[in-house]
Amino acid sequence: MKKLVSFAVLLAFLAAACSKPVAPQDRLLAHEQEIDALIAQMTLEEKVEMLHSKTNMSSAGVERLGIADMHYADGPFGIREEGQPNGFMPAGWTLDSATYFPTGSALAATWSEDMAYLYGTGMGKEARLRGKDVILGPAVNIQRLPVGGRTYEYLSEDPMLSAALALYYTKGVQDEGTAVCIKHFAVNNQETNRGSVDAQLDERTLREIYLKPFERAIREGGAMSVMPAYNKVNGDYCSENEHLLNEILRGEWGFKGFTVSDWGGTHSTMGAMLHGLNVQMTGSNYLGQPVIDSIATGALTEEQVDEKVRQILRVRFAVEAVPEDVANTVMTSQPESQAIARQVAEKAIVLLKNDGVLPVAPEVKKIAVIGQNAVLKTQSGGMGAGVKALYEVTPLEGITSRAAEAGVEVAYAPGYRNYARRMWGPQVLGPLETAQIDEAADPELLAEAVALARDADMVIFFGGTNKNIETEGSDRKDIKLPCGQETLVQALYEANPRLATVLISGGPTDLQVLEPVSPAIVQGWWNGTEGGTALAEVLFGDIAPSGKLPFTFPVKLEDSPAYALGNFPDKNTGGDLFTLMYRPDVLAMTPEQRQAFIDALPKPVSQYTEGPLVGYRWFDTREVKPMYAFGHGLSYVDFGYGDMKASAGKKGVKVSFVLTNEGSMPADEVVQLYVRRIGSEVEWPDKELKAFRRVSLREGESKKVVLEIPVEDLRYWNVEKNAWDLEHGKLELLLGSASDDIRQTAEVTI
Ligand code: BGC
Repeated sequence: MKKLVSFAVLLAFLAAACSKPVAPQDRLLAHEQEIDALIAQMTLEEKVEMLHSKTNMSSAGVERLGIADMHYADGPFGIREEGQPNGFMPAGWTLDSATYFPTGSALAATWSEDMAYLYGTGMGKEARLRGKDVILGPAVNIQRLPVGGRTYEYLSEDPMLSAALALYYTKGVQDEGTAVCIKHFAVNNQETNRGSVDAQLDERTLREIYLKPFERAIREGGAMSVMPAYNKVNGDYCSENEHLLNEILRGEWGFKGFTVSDWGGTHSTMGAMLHGLNVQMTGSNYLGQPVIDSIATGALTEEQVDEKVRQILRVRFAVEAVPEDVANTVMTSQPESQAIARQVAEKAIVLLKNDGVLPVAPEVKKIAVIGQNAVLKTQSGGMGAGVKALYEVTPLEGITSRAAEAGVEVAYAPGYRNYARRMWGPQVLGPLETAQIDEAADPELLAEAVALARDADMVIFFGGTNKNIETEGSDRKDIKLPCGQETLVQALYEANPRLATVLISGGPTDLQVLEPVSPAIVQGWWNGTEGGTALAEVLFGDIAPSGKLPFTFPVKLEDSPAYALGNFPDKNTGGDLFTLMYRPDVLAMTPEQRQAFIDALPKPVSQYTEGPLVGYRWFDTREVKPMYAFGHGLSYVDFGYGDMKASAGKKGVKVSFVLTNEGSMPADEVVQLYVRRIGSEVEWPDKELKAFRRVSLREGESKKVVLEIPVEDLRYWNVEKNAWDLEHGKLELLLGSASDDIRQTAEVTI
């Protein structure tokens, strides 16, 4: 008997070992027969109802057959407050305050897959509490332009870093039983004319740079839904782009789920039906009655509708609907998620420069905190991605409570007026707000701030932007520090040179004036519900800073690739379709008039002639020195990089070395491995990030670190073969602490 059991166990083991693992997308195929049976019972009208919005944030199921509606929520850094069924105006609920997680570029600054995963679980759990099935996120477009209005939502300028974080965010959300809707697919790298711009780029750049984050999240993470972007790519709108949706997404990547157009981003019935869109959000003018009419005329078949419904139902089966009497019975924001938000925030803060002013020294007994960004809440604004947070610790609150523990006095002055603009209604501004981004420093506010600075042992200046400046729907005009901040910080430094600057922004800023008068600079981000707590911990030295820049800070805007080549701003300005659609005169038009209006809009084009030279790829290849390089971020300790061992085999490249924390406090280092091609026939950027790892070390501790680059990640898109290809030859491996701080190199051959 005993023998028999062990034989059975052995057989089971062998069967498991031999069976091929199911591809993440194929997990969606578990209910095909039930789905077919359901479709067979549905009327054409019921099927078509599923192809467009039911409310502003839902699409229909079929109640009679027990198919629940699909409920969506923005995304990407907190579950958005409940809106009115017919739009975005708040519904006025009391239990829909969510956890505000650090925004995209802050998450990316952690360079941590673990943090991205945890973040995803937090988002996924809170979505379930709200009865939501699909999170409209992660937002993973490449940060191509320093001025990009949605840089703060997006992750990085680098496809490898973006892809790793997009993958783990996706896994985290979906492990909680919620679907992601990864967005905005694809090449949505600007807000200027986003509703009509045609992004024109070559296939290699498309594959290697702009599609990478989507590809990993979909293929390896099994992302269940995808949001085609507003813009066009190489001539066709993303919501009806045969190449993107049918050939690549479904064809090559094996995507089995469904696509949801960006809000107002569906453009035609036939285009959407034939070229890969499942759900029109919002409205039904394309994927409603016209679909039924087209079937009647024979232009479309009911089988085509069935296929779309099947793809939606696969996700409906994979994501269990939350019963109505269970959803929204407790507060959305939960302590577990708040703790995740804090952990991410702690790891996101980047120390850009430190001439010894930080951490706050024991002899400092009075701190002057200057700048409105120290008190500004950053949870809402910026359009779709805002969060109604249960609470938000501002930087000033964080500093004040930490200072109190240390017996340090804190004095605050606003220093400047903040740029404000109201989305709707009359522009009534508060006394500390201005309608001019480039307004000069206010003499009274400046004098008050300088007096405080003079009277304190140390100054912490809060500069940067806000969500009226960096926002969905428009790009920044430049990256200059707004509202007289430069004049102010110069005056503060003159009054008291023991000064640290904290930049509160989602994207990079021009630091040419600020840098010489800031002995320390911290990139503090829009860092979530616990942002102020995390910042105080770093400033006071309770924890060592460990974030690394996910994008380059150029010295000046004109140094960055799209500007240097004259590719941006677009020559043709046109108008942002989304914003235009909400203009009262446009809202009042008949559907025919509106279509004519859209057709008559200028047709802007964005040329991507910089090719793959995005971000540091450009700066390194063209030898343009940035202000702060990609991957840069200092600590309060030094790290020792032991001798690097490198090898290459069929499976890829492997590097190992010993990393030592040489300081006297625990600290994390993010080690980065870049690859440079030697004697290559194919054209490559100077170097590319290929692996990274966040390593935590106690004081004095050493750890062996192993980094691997799978051979697939060394391939390039061969345009002639129209396929991924490996170029054999020599590689230089560059191991370091930042893209411009390489500690060791080694050569291998693949
Ligand atoms: C944004 C999307 C968002 C959607 C719904 C659009 O304007 O581009 O990212 O998910 O609105 O709020």
